[in-house]
Amino acid sequence: MSDTEFLPINGTDFVEFYVGNAKQAAHFYQTAFGFQPLAYAGLETGLKDRTSYVLKQGKIVFVLTTALIPESPIAEHQKIHGDGIKTIALWVDDARKSWKETTSRGARSYMEPQTIIDEYGEVVLSGIHTYGETVHVFVERKNYFGPFMPGFKKWEPSYRPAETGLKYVDHIVGNVGWGEMNKWVNFYGKVLGFEQLISFDDKDISTEYTALMSKVMANDNMRIKFPINEPAEGKKKSQIEEYLDFYRGSGAQHVAMATDNIIETISQLRSRGIEFLHVPDAYYDTVIDRVKEIDEDLETLKKLRILIDRDEDGYLLQLFTKPVEDRPTVFFEIIQRKGAKSFGKGNFKALFEAIELEQSNRGTL
Ligand code: FE2
Repeated sequence: MSDTEFLPINGTDFVEFYVGNAKQAAHFYQTAFGFQPLAYAGLETGLKDRTSYVLKQGKIVFVLTTALIPESPIAEHQKIHGDGIKTIALWVDDARKSWKETTSRGARSYMEPQTIIDEYGEVVLSGIHTYGETVHVFVERKNYFGPFMPGFKKWEPSYRPAETGLKYVDHIVGNVGWGEMNKWVNFYGKVLGFEQLISFDDKDISTEYTALMSKVMANDNMRIKFPINEPAEGKKKSQIEEYLDFYRGSGAQHVAMATDNIIETISQLRSRGIEFLHVPDAYYDTVIDRVKEIDEDLETLKKLRILIDRDEDGYLLQLFTKPVEDRPTVFFEIIQRKGAKSFGKGNFKALFEAIELEQSNRGTL
């Protein structure tokens, strides 16, 4: 029996962001990323304290939630962290068992198992705490046939910009505080039965100024991959430290979303105003020596500033957005895998040098 048999996970169910203004955030994710409207909950559905918009693209579901009253814990979360990821929901067949197995292994309960029902069936939810104020909610929806879950109505605006080719969540990275990486690696190992995929230390990921340590935890079927970052000593402040300062603690740093055609996706996102990290020209002078033969035209990749990396299984193409809120915290990664199972380690140095240029522009390096 494999270690993770006590917690089978089918995939990421949804990612919930607590934001300052869900109506405007929904417009941003529709217009800029091409997410499609799915469901809504708010005053019109009987809620008094919050509003949520649910958007979907491929298998990716985002829930954007804002507080309607200052006493709400959602308002408190937003005040402390700014716009950020509260919930990384995991799709399971048995939410009661998932809760029992994880809490009995030491997880702190966030939500005891509960069944919610409407005319489309029932959903069972439960939840546990993870790093910072982030939580995992287990979602059991095998007996549900509505748009999202009970409590939400269909959201059907006429405004529907086209999708941009985003298919599924590839991985979600957590930034944790100094000396905490191994604690959370052990948490995912012991409490959720995940295995460590790849490990690299601060010698692997460092530039002249900044450094970090990172370990990747994944579940049995590899549909859930959680790299965990912790800052490492460098000459100047690392981007992980900058995140921790502005987020006021540990939290989710980026969601990587997969596409089958990164050239098309990045072209679309750029034309819709998404800003990406600057990749220096010099990157493209040496990249082919590192990654060897690729299917794509290098000039096109250079024009779009797409990054390339290779591992023993193949290669990958990726690019990182700038933070999508005013605090330099949460951002997105667009990734296309062509065999590679890793996370772009070879790009980290090039990437960090690019990030440091941004940091130095903000005066926070
Ligand atoms: Fe990533």
